[in-house]
Amino acid sequence: MKKRLSVRDIRRKKVIEQSQEPIVSLVCYTAQMARLINNQVDIILVGDSLGMTIYGHENTLSVTLDMMINHGAAVVRSTDIPHIVVDMPFGSYEESPEVAFRSASKIMRETGAQSVKLEGGEEFAETIFFLNQRGIPVMGHIGLMPQRIQTLGGFFTQGKTEKESIKLMNDAKSISQAGAFSMVIEAIPEEVATDITRKIDVPTIGIGAGRNCDGQILVSHDILNLFGAFTPKFVKKYGNIDENIVKAVTDYSQEVKNKKFPTPDNIFTIKK
Ligand code: KIV
Repeated sequence: MKKRLSVRDIRRKKVIEQSQEPIVSLVCYTAQMARLINNQVDIILVGDSLGMTIYGHENTLSVTLDMMINHGAAVVRSTDIPHIVVDMPFGSYEESPEVAFRSASKIMRETGAQSVKLEGGEEFAETIFFLNQRGIPVMGHIGLMPQRIQTLGGFFTQGKTEKESIKLMNDAKSISQAGAFSMVIEAIPEEVATDITRKIDVPTIGIGAGRNCDGQILVSHDILNLFGAFTPKFVKKYGNIDENIVKAVTDYSQEVKNKKFPTPDNIFTIKK
């Protein structure tokens, strides 16, 4: 029986040679999807993007700790191979390392996940150190940080100027030195992500960060075309579930209206 990947296993996957396989990660939120992808990925992130993809919010700011815990626990229950990371939602960690510890320990205790993720650079190094020292492995998240949508003014590519790219490098170095076991790097130029990947000693997991990160992550709803609201440039669609659902429901609706469903196969009769 294969065992679940630990933070140690993930750290060891830092790509040293070109021939090494990158880390495969997906964002997933439900038991059913988790069961289907259990054998295919190294890491599942139960991401707070569920606020948009599952709950229909405009951004991730309305997501609560309870939402993350319910979805995190469902994903843990339905898998036994990938490393499970649960996102810390907006407002659950920013105030102080102590508040972050309370939220993160609740997530770990109530979901059974192996680690948590939080968005932020140098300003969260102290928090990451605090959590790590107390038994909570942390995945960092730099570049485009969706929880900062209101201060950013939109979901824009980050690190395009020299000043911004220097800041990103500092962020990456300080959170890896603080103990982050890996980090998501979102929506930044490939050159900047490559440079960061070469200069830090924990794995970088890119989303819209080019080809040279130690791993890649995308949102399962995006690659399956299950979330039509908007599609970032960095997403590649590998399936078209939306279309299949619409077709199936249209067929059902037509058959009900035309009295072609139920058929004799779908009904019960009394015993003669
Ligand atoms: O919540 C999420 O889906 C994420 C990914 C964009 C990495 O944080």
